[in-house]
Amino acid sequence: MGSRVVAIDGPAGSGKSTTAAAVARALGMPHVESGTLYRAVTLAALDAAVPVEGPRLVALAHALPIRLDLTASGFRPEIAGTDVSEAIRTERVTAHVSAVSAIGEVRRWVNEEVRRAVARYPAGAVLDGRDIGTVVFPDALLKIYLTAAPEERARRRLRQEGRPSDPDDLGREVAELARRDGADSSRALAPLMPAPDAVLLDTSGMTLEAQVAHIVALARKAFS
Ligand code: CDP
Ligand code: CDP
Repeated sequence: MGSRVVAIDGPAGSGKSTTAAAVARALGMPHVESGTLYRAVTLAALDAAVPVEGPRLVALAHALPIRLDLTASGFRPEIAGTDVSEAIRTERVTAHVSAVSAIGEVRRWVNEEVRRAVARYPAGAVLDGRDIGTVVFPDALLKIYLTAAPEERARRRLRQEGRPSDPDDLGREVAELARRDGADSSRALAPLMPAPDAVLLDTSGMTLEAQVAHIVALARKAFS
């Protein structure tokens, strides 16, 4: 018997967190977004002017009162009791998060927090990230690797943030996503890649509703 987990991995802007949240709602399970913890450590490091590499950052990750707090709509990241859901989404954090997530001690800490959150839900949980199916829950009952064409992902990201999407903006966003995916895929530890037993789902021409319905159907079968 594997873990009662739906693991949704994939590159930036492929729709992981929106899809995972909707799948979790449909299944009546919590949604755990692992990227929020990497972002929270990055935010704390930038605010404390701790270099985003090296031993001081690792000490900060261990010492920080960062929590995944359960609310009615899912787990919410907090630093010292303050909701940081919005602060962790700024460009400043996004620009540095891949460097922070390449550090082994930081990854170990995130994985412990994520596994602790999931352990409270024996009936199952929906998780998204980069290495959920490969490293965090290699025995997940269902693994999805979500992709979409780079331009489509960039368009979605700009629309989501209410930013303009003329050809220049779009080109810049494509380059920014490619830079982060390149860093996440080429690092030594837990690189972004599909698990051998993941279901690959290219959502380029799909609606959000269709991909959610597809994954919910696969999950019901896998969990039955
Ligand atoms: O939502 P978006 O695709 O922008 O990213 P995210 O899921 O919030 O993740 C932010 C960053 O955290 C990624 O670019 C990775 O560097 C790192 N991450 C990771 O290494 N492993 C995970 N399981 C989740 C996120
Ligand atoms: O977590 P990740 O970075 O992979 O993506 P996200 O934060 O969920 O952002 C994806 C955006 O694309 C959201 O605004 C979705 O509503 C939208 N979208 C999608 O996920 N799937 C589609 N088929 C169409 C749009």
